[in-house]
Amino acid sequence: MKKTAHIIVFGNEKGGSGKSTTAMHTAIALLRLGYRVGTIDLDARQGTLTRYLKKRFDYITRNREHLPSPAHMAIEKSQLETVAEQKFEEESFLLMALDELGQVCDFIIIDTPGTDSFLSRLAHSHADTLITPMNDSFIDLDLLADIDMKNYDVIGPSIYSEMVEEQRQVKKRRNDGTIDWIVMRNRMTHLNTNNNKIITRLLDEISRLAKFRLAPGFGERVVFKEMFLKGLTLLDLKEDQNGGLTLSQIAARQEVRNLIIEIAPEHLKGHATPPQSQVKTAANS
Ligand SMILES: Nc1ncnc2c1ncn2[C@@H]1O[C@H](COP(=O)(O)OP(=O)(O)OP(=O)(O)O)[C@@H](O)[C@H]1O
Ligand SMILES: [Mg+2]
Repeated sequence: MKKTAHIIVFGNEKGGSGKSTTAMHTAIALLRLGYRVGTIDLDARQGTLTRYLKKRFDYITRNREHLPSPAHMAIEKSQLETVAEQKFEEESFLLMALDELGQVCDFIIIDTPGTDSFLSRLAHSHADTLITPMNDSFIDLDLLADIDMKNYDVIGPSIYSEMVEEQRQVKKRRNDGTIDWIVMRNRMTHLNTNNNKIITRLLDEISRLAKFRLAPGFGERVVFKEMFLKGLTLLDLKEDQNGGLTLSQIAARQEVRNLIIEIAPEHLKGHATPPQSQVKTAANS
Protein backbone atom coordinates (compact mmCIF):
# COMPACT_ATOMS: atom_id res chain seq x y z
CA MET A 1 0.00 0.00 0.00
CA LYS A 2 1.37 3.41 -0.96
CA LYS A 3 0.54 5.64 1.98
CA THR A 4 0.93 9.33 1.59
CA ALA A 5 -1.65 10.82 3.95
CA HIS A 6 -1.23 11.46 7.67
CA ILE A 7 -3.77 9.29 9.49
CA ILE A 8 -5.60 10.68 12.52
CA VAL A 9 -7.68 8.13 14.44
CA PHE A 10 -10.28 9.16 17.01
CA GLY A 11 -10.61 6.36 19.53
CA ASN A 12 -11.49 5.19 22.99
CA GLU A 13 -13.67 2.44 24.37
CA LYS A 14 -16.28 4.63 26.04
CA GLY A 15 -19.44 5.63 24.24
CA GLY A 16 -20.45 9.25 23.91
CA SER A 17 -17.15 10.90 24.81
CA GLY A 18 -17.07 13.11 21.70
CA LYS A 19 -15.10 11.09 19.11
CA SER A 20 -17.45 11.78 16.19
CA THR A 21 -17.97 15.45 17.12
CA THR A 22 -14.22 16.05 17.44
CA ALA A 23 -13.45 14.04 14.28
CA MET A 24 -15.90 16.16 12.26
CA HIS A 25 -14.54 19.44 13.66
CA THR A 26 -10.95 18.38 12.98
CA ALA A 27 -11.79 17.40 9.39
CA ILE A 28 -13.50 20.72 8.63
CA ALA A 29 -10.80 22.75 10.41
CA LEU A 30 -8.09 21.09 8.28
CA LEU A 31 -10.11 21.60 5.09
CA ARG A 32 -10.52 25.28 5.94
CA LEU A 33 -6.75 25.57 6.38
CA GLY A 34 -6.48 24.38 2.79
CA TYR A 35 -5.54 20.70 3.34
CA ARG A 36 -7.12 17.84 1.40
CA VAL A 37 -9.04 15.65 3.82
CA GLY A 38 -10.70 12.23 3.68
CA THR A 39 -12.86 10.69 6.40
CA ILE A 40 -13.61 7.05 7.22
CA ASP A 41 -16.49 6.00 9.49
CA LEU A 42 -15.72 2.65 11.12
CA ASP A 43 -18.80 3.00 13.29
CA ALA A 44 -21.04 2.49 10.27
CA ARG A 45 -23.73 0.78 12.35
CA GLN A 46 -24.31 3.91 14.43
CA GLY A 47 -23.00 6.10 11.60
CA THR A 48 -22.74 9.36 13.53
CA LEU A 49 -20.01 10.85 11.31
CA THR A 50 -21.79 9.63 8.16
CA ARG A 51 -25.08 11.18 9.34
CA TYR A 52 -23.26 14.39 10.31
CA LEU A 53 -21.89 14.66 6.76
CA LYS A 54 -25.25 13.77 5.20
CA LYS A 55 -26.80 16.68 7.09
CA ARG A 56 -23.99 18.87 5.73
CA PHE A 57 -24.65 17.79 2.14
CA ASP A 58 -28.41 18.44 2.67
CA TYR A 59 -27.53 21.92 3.99
CA ILE A 60 -25.37 22.60 0.93
CA THR A 61 -28.14 21.49 -1.44
CA ARG A 62 -30.82 23.49 0.40
CA ASN A 63 -28.82 26.70 0.69
CA ARG A 64 -26.74 26.42 -2.51
CA GLU A 65 -23.79 27.44 -0.40
CA HIS A 66 -20.26 26.14 -0.86
CA LEU A 67 -18.97 24.41 2.29
CA PRO A 68 -15.70 22.48 2.24
CA SER A 69 -16.42 18.79 2.84
CA PRO A 70 -14.21 15.71 2.99
CA ALA A 71 -14.21 12.68 0.69
CA HIS A 72 -16.05 10.18 2.89
CA MET A 73 -16.18 6.38 3.18
CA ALA A 74 -18.03 4.16 5.65
CA ILE A 75 -16.93 0.60 6.37
CA GLU A 76 -19.50 -1.86 7.69
CA LYS A 77 -18.73 -4.79 9.94
CA SER A 78 -18.32 -7.88 7.75
CA GLN A 79 -21.30 -10.27 7.57
CA LEU A 80 -19.22 -13.20 6.28
CA GLU A 81 -19.52 -16.53 8.03
CA THR A 82 -16.26 -17.26 9.79
CA VAL A 83 -14.21 -14.93 11.97
CA ALA A 84 -11.21 -15.42 9.67
CA GLU A 85 -13.25 -14.41 6.61
CA GLN A 86 -14.68 -11.41 8.46
CA LYS A 87 -11.22 -10.21 9.49
CA PHE A 88 -9.87 -10.66 5.98
CA GLU A 89 -12.74 -8.69 4.43
CA GLU A 90 -12.61 -5.89 7.01
CA GLU A 91 -8.84 -5.53 6.68
CA SER A 92 -9.09 -5.49 2.87
CA PHE A 93 -11.77 -2.77 2.96
CA LEU A 94 -9.80 -0.60 5.38
CA LEU A 95 -6.59 -0.94 3.37
CA MET A 96 -8.45 -0.12 0.15
CA ALA A 97 -10.00 2.98 1.73
CA LEU A 98 -6.63 4.12 3.10
CA ASP A 99 -4.98 3.51 -0.24
CA GLU A 100 -7.64 5.34 -2.24
CA LEU A 101 -7.91 8.36 0.08
CA GLY A 102 -4.16 8.33 0.72
CA GLN A 103 -3.48 9.14 -2.91
CA VAL A 104 -5.56 12.32 -2.91
CA CYS A 105 -5.55 13.51 0.71
CA ASP A 106 -3.07 15.14 3.09
CA PHE A 107 -5.02 13.86 6.11
CA ILE A 108 -7.31 10.89 6.67
CA ILE A 109 -9.59 11.12 9.71
CA ILE A 110 -10.91 7.81 11.07
CA ASP A 111 -13.83 7.70 13.51
CA THR A 112 -14.06 4.45 15.50
CA PRO A 113 -16.89 2.94 17.58
CA GLY A 114 -16.93 3.23 21.38
CA THR A 115 -16.35 -0.51 21.75
CA ASP A 116 -13.46 -2.86 21.13
CA SER A 117 -13.51 -4.52 17.70
CA PHE A 118 -11.11 -5.98 15.18
CA LEU A 119 -11.60 -3.01 12.81
CA SER A 120 -11.04 -0.50 15.57
CA ARG A 121 -7.79 -2.19 16.67
CA LEU A 122 -6.62 -2.34 13.09
CA ALA A 123 -7.34 1.38 12.61
CA HIS A 124 -5.37 2.15 15.78
CA SER A 125 -2.41 0.27 14.36
CA HIS A 126 -2.48 2.60 11.31
CA ALA A 127 -2.74 5.81 13.33
CA ASP A 128 0.00 8.39 12.95
CA THR A 129 -1.89 10.52 15.46
CA LEU A 130 -4.40 8.99 17.88
CA ILE A 131 -6.83 11.38 19.59
CA THR A 132 -8.78 10.17 22.61
CA PRO A 133 -11.49 12.50 23.87
CA MET A 134 -12.56 11.68 27.43
CA ASN A 135 -15.44 13.06 29.43
CA ASP A 136 -14.16 15.12 32.27
CA SER A 137 -14.97 12.67 35.07
CA PHE A 138 -13.43 9.97 37.25
CA ILE A 139 -15.53 7.38 35.41
CA ASP A 140 -13.73 8.14 32.17
CA LEU A 141 -10.30 8.14 33.81
CA ASP A 142 -10.48 4.37 34.18
CA LEU A 143 -10.54 4.27 30.40
CA LEU A 144 -6.87 5.25 30.60
CA ALA A 145 -5.66 3.64 33.81
CA ASP A 146 -6.68 1.46 36.69
CA ILE A 147 -7.20 3.92 39.56
CA ASP A 148 -7.46 3.34 43.30
CA MET A 149 -10.48 5.57 43.92
CA LYS A 150 -9.93 5.62 47.69
CA ASN A 151 -6.53 7.29 47.59
CA TYR A 152 -6.65 8.49 43.97
CA ASP A 153 -3.53 6.55 43.04
CA VAL A 154 -2.68 5.08 39.65
CA ILE A 155 -2.42 1.29 39.98
CA GLY A 156 -1.61 0.37 36.37
CA PRO A 157 -2.68 0.65 32.73
CA SER A 158 -6.27 0.09 31.62
CA ILE A 159 -7.43 -2.39 28.99
CA TYR A 160 -7.60 0.46 26.45
CA SER A 161 -4.08 1.75 27.23
CA GLU A 162 -2.79 -1.80 26.88
CA MET A 163 -4.55 -2.10 23.52
CA VAL A 164 -2.93 1.15 22.32
CA GLU A 165 0.47 -0.18 23.44
CA GLU A 166 -0.15 -3.43 21.51
CA GLN A 167 -1.04 -1.47 18.36
CA ARG A 168 2.09 0.65 18.82
CA GLN A 169 4.09 -2.57 18.71
CA VAL A 170 2.16 -3.80 15.65
CA LYS A 171 2.91 -0.53 13.85
CA LYS A 172 6.55 -0.62 14.86
CA ARG A 173 6.92 -4.14 13.47
CA ARG A 174 5.02 -3.24 10.29
CA ASN A 175 7.06 -0.24 9.16
CA ASP A 176 8.98 1.01 12.18
CA GLY A 177 6.20 3.58 12.64
CA THR A 178 5.11 5.40 15.78
CA ILE A 179 1.81 6.69 17.15
CA ASP A 180 1.56 10.20 18.60
CA TRP A 181 -1.20 9.73 21.22
CA ILE A 182 -3.10 12.85 22.30
CA VAL A 183 -5.72 12.76 25.07
CA MET A 184 -8.16 15.65 25.36
CA ARG A 185 -10.71 16.38 28.04
CA ASN A 186 -14.19 16.98 26.68
CA ARG A 187 -17.32 18.58 28.12
CA MET A 188 -15.31 20.34 30.79
CA THR A 189 -17.19 22.23 33.47
CA HIS A 190 -15.47 24.33 36.06
CA LEU A 191 -17.89 23.60 38.86
CA ASN A 192 -16.00 21.20 41.07
CA THR A 193 -12.49 22.57 41.31
CA ASN A 194 -11.26 19.98 43.81
CA ASN A 195 -12.21 17.07 41.55
CA ASN A 196 -10.73 18.96 38.65
CA LYS A 197 -7.39 19.27 40.41
CA ILE A 198 -7.33 15.55 41.21
CA ILE A 199 -8.21 14.62 37.61
CA THR A 200 -5.48 16.95 36.30
CA ARG A 201 -2.88 15.39 38.65
CA LEU A 202 -3.91 11.83 37.76
CA LEU A 203 -3.93 12.56 34.02
CA ASP A 204 -0.45 13.98 34.28
CA GLU A 205 0.72 10.79 36.02
CA ILE A 206 -1.07 8.47 33.57
CA SER A 207 0.33 10.39 30.59
CA ARG A 208 3.85 9.32 31.59
CA LEU A 209 2.81 5.72 32.19
CA ALA A 210 0.81 5.31 28.97
CA LYS A 211 2.91 7.69 26.85
CA PHE A 212 0.37 10.25 25.65
CA ARG A 213 0.32 14.02 25.68
CA LEU A 214 -2.54 16.16 26.87
CA ALA A 215 -4.27 18.69 24.65
CA PRO A 216 -6.44 21.53 25.91
CA GLY A 217 -10.01 20.24 25.79
CA PHE A 218 -13.52 21.38 24.89
CA GLY A 219 -15.98 22.86 27.38
CA GLU A 220 -19.50 21.56 27.92
CA ARG A 221 -21.35 23.56 25.26
CA VAL A 222 -24.83 23.10 23.84
CA VAL A 223 -23.58 24.63 20.60
CA PHE A 224 -21.90 21.29 19.66
CA LYS A 225 -25.29 19.55 19.61
CA GLU A 226 -26.87 22.41 17.64
CA MET A 227 -24.11 22.26 15.05
CA PHE A 228 -24.61 18.50 14.57
CA LEU A 229 -28.30 18.95 13.78
CA LYS A 230 -27.42 21.40 10.98
CA GLY A 231 -24.44 19.45 9.62
CA LEU A 232 -22.22 22.40 10.44
CA THR A 233 -19.16 22.92 12.61
CA LEU A 234 -18.02 25.92 14.57
CA LEU A 235 -15.54 26.62 11.79
CA ASP A 236 -18.40 27.26 9.35
CA LEU A 237 -19.90 30.14 11.32
CA LYS A 238 -19.34 33.57 9.88
CA GLU A 239 -18.95 36.68 11.96
CA ASP A 240 -21.34 38.52 9.67
CA GLN A 241 -24.32 36.26 10.40
CA ASN A 242 -27.37 37.96 11.93
CA GLY A 243 -26.43 39.14 15.40
CA GLY A 244 -22.80 37.98 15.08
CA LEU A 245 -21.33 35.07 17.02
CA THR A 246 -22.19 34.39 20.64
CA LEU A 247 -19.38 34.36 23.19
CA SER A 248 -19.92 30.63 23.64
CA GLN A 249 -19.49 30.05 19.89
CA ILE A 250 -16.31 32.13 19.80
CA ALA A 251 -14.87 30.32 22.83
CA ALA A 252 -15.79 26.90 21.42
CA ARG A 253 -14.23 27.75 18.05
CA GLN A 254 -11.02 28.77 19.80
CA GLU A 255 -11.01 25.41 21.62
CA VAL A 256 -11.19 23.62 18.27
CA ARG A 257 -8.33 25.76 16.93
CA ASN A 258 -6.26 24.92 20.02
CA LEU A 259 -6.69 21.22 19.26
CA ILE A 260 -5.51 21.80 15.69
CA ILE A 261 -2.43 23.60 17.07
CA GLU A 262 -1.65 20.42 19.06
CA ILE A 263 -2.00 18.30 15.93
CA ALA A 264 0.40 20.76 14.22
CA PRO A 265 -0.62 20.07 10.59
CA GLU A 266 1.99 22.47 9.20
CA HIS A 267 4.76 20.37 10.77
CA LEU A 268 3.26 17.20 9.34
CA LYS A 269 2.31 18.35 5.83
CA GLY A 270 3.75 21.85 5.41
CA HIS A 271 1.65 24.99 5.10
CA ALA A 272 -1.40 24.66 2.87
CA THR A 273 -2.97 27.42 0.80
CA PRO A 274 -6.40 28.30 2.21
CA PRO A 275 -9.23 28.60 -0.33
CA GLN A 276 -9.34 32.13 -1.88
CA SER A 277 -12.72 33.08 -0.39
CA GLN A 278 -11.28 32.61 3.11
CA VAL A 279 -8.19 34.65 2.39
CA LYS A 280 -10.50 37.54 1.42
CA THR A 281 -12.61 37.10 4.55
CA ALA A 282 -9.53 37.04 6.80
CA ALA A 283 -8.10 40.12 5.07
CA ASN A 284 -11.38 42.02 5.48
CA SER A 285 -11.83 41.23 9.16
N1 LIG B 1 -18.14 19.55 24.30
C1 LIG B 1 -19.41 19.13 24.22
N2 LIG B 1 -20.40 19.82 24.84
C2 LIG B 1 -21.69 19.39 24.74
N3 LIG B 1 -22.09 18.30 24.10
C3 LIG B 1 -21.14 17.56 23.47
C4 LIG B 1 -19.76 17.93 23.50
N4 LIG B 1 -19.06 17.01 22.79
C5 LIG B 1 -19.95 16.11 22.36
N5 LIG B 1 -21.20 16.42 22.77
C6 LIG B 1 -22.45 15.69 22.52
O1 LIG B 1 -22.34 14.42 23.15
C7 LIG B 1 -22.97 13.42 22.37
C8 LIG B 1 -21.95 12.31 22.07
O2 LIG B 1 -20.93 12.87 21.23
P1 LIG B 1 -20.28 12.00 20.06
O3 LIG B 1 -21.33 11.32 19.26
O4 LIG B 1 -19.33 12.88 19.37
O5 LIG B 1 -19.49 10.94 20.95
P2 LIG B 1 -18.80 9.56 20.47
O6 LIG B 1 -17.61 9.34 21.34
O7 LIG B 1 -18.59 9.59 19.02
O8 LIG B 1 -19.93 8.49 20.83
P3 LIG B 1 -19.96 6.93 20.39
O9 LIG B 1 -18.94 6.22 21.21
O10 LIG B 1 -21.38 6.53 20.71
O11 LIG B 1 -19.65 6.89 18.92
C9 LIG B 1 -23.51 14.12 21.13
O12 LIG B 1 -24.87 14.43 21.34
C10 LIG B 1 -22.69 15.40 21.05
O13 LIG B 1 -23.40 16.46 20.42
MG1 LIG C 1 -19.21 8.25 17.50
